[in-house]
Amino acid sequence: MHTDLCDRLGIEFPIFAFSHCRDVVAAVSQAGGFGVLGAVGFSPEQLEIECRWIDEHVGDRPYGVDLVIPAKYEGQGEIDPAKLEEQLRAMIPARHREFAAKLLADHGVPELPPENRARELLGWTAATAAPQVEVALAHEKVRLIANALGTPPSDVIEHVHASGRLVAALCGRVHQAVRHRDAGVDIVIAQGTEGGGHTGEIGSLVLWPQVIKAVAPLPVLAAGGIGTGEQIAAALAMGAQGVWTGSLWLAVEEAEAQPAQIESYLRATSEDTVRSRSWTGKPCRMLRNEWTEAWEGEGAPKPLGMPLQGMVTMDAIARTSRYASSAHAQEVAFNPVGQTVGLMTEVRSCREVIYDLVEGYVEAADRLAALAPR
Ligand SMILES: Cc1cc2nc3c(=O)[nH]c(=O)nc-3n(C[C@H](O)[C@H](O)[C@H](O)COP(=O)(O)O)c2cc1C
Repeated sequence: MHTDLCDRLGIEFPIFAFSHCRDVVAAVSQAGGFGVLGAVGFSPEQLEIECRWIDEHVGDRPYGVDLVIPAKYEGQGEIDPAKLEEQLRAMIPARHREFAAKLLADHGVPELPPENRARELLGWTAATAAPQVEVALAHEKVRLIANALGTPPSDVIEHVHASGRLVAALCGRVHQAVRHRDAGVDIVIAQGTEGGGHTGEIGSLVLWPQVIKAVAPLPVLAAGGIGTGEQIAAALAMGAQGVWTGSLWLAVEEAEAQPAQIESYLRATSEDTVRSRSWTGKPCRMLRNEWTEAWEGEGAPKPLGMPLQGMVTMDAIARTSRYASSAHAQEVAFNPVGQTVGLMTEVRSCREVIYDLVEGYVEAADRLAALAPR
């Protein structure tokens, strides 16, 4: 499983694990993979705390930080985070806030104590992501900055390169991959529609080879639907230099999730996910529930663009996560996950997951080797 990227990043296996949870990031990197911390939900101050914690728990292994600077979003151009937030707040119709609040109230999800109310605008914009880049680059073991939902701005790419780190960017279409390459991105992550979180419409098996061909010789990581080592073998056989995974790490021992949320994931089948704009404003794959259905229902307000819809739902994300076990919270909870959720049937440690992936890969490689003519 050793590819050039393993040497460039100093890792054993080209298995990249996206997670918002620092324990998962550290554990995956410790196990020989490459943990990547999703920074979108953290203020710069929180991100500093998370990175410091990972530095202390990751030994001498590297890790990455993932930002969300969308190619298109409301309020684009404003670079002062406070002004941007004020400007955006004024654009949110009361009806959207009322609709979200009623859904939570109807399902008995408790309110947060005032001191725990979340900030509404986090890292969904260039203005709010810029300080996150500064924080991430101040940590030596951060060897990769990844970006979701668009090509990172040229000043971010230059800045990351000047600090000697690599830049990766996700895509769901071939033309986005080419745009990343032309902008100077070092690694393209091709995510098929199966994937959890924001995702496009093209299936992994169809997308990966097209992206690999379009940006060659730039390294491509295959993402979207990966839950087994056999799938990793398929991705590497197609020419990917590694895999980028997300859903797999939602139900590991190290994940911070509440038991009720983990239970929702373990119970779900591959048929239980939906691409919905109802939480963030862009199509995002998650477990289908009464929240996603309600926003599709007759008379429901149309989800706003990013980051406005996320500002409307920030309180709901915080409440359904904190009170995940309250009687009906899971019916309206934000549970982003990909179709690979159908393969998630037990809680394992990160080390066990990496071990199982490597074992499955070896078995698949052996199966192929046995097919060679003698
Ligand atoms: C809960 C969850 C949250 C995600 N949030 C982000 C994010 O903030 N930034 C990002 O680049 N990708 C995000 N993703 C996508 C992952 O980085 C990854 O591309 C995707 O999970 C791969 O597909 P898989 O879920 O089938 O493994 C998220 C995925 C999940 C499951």
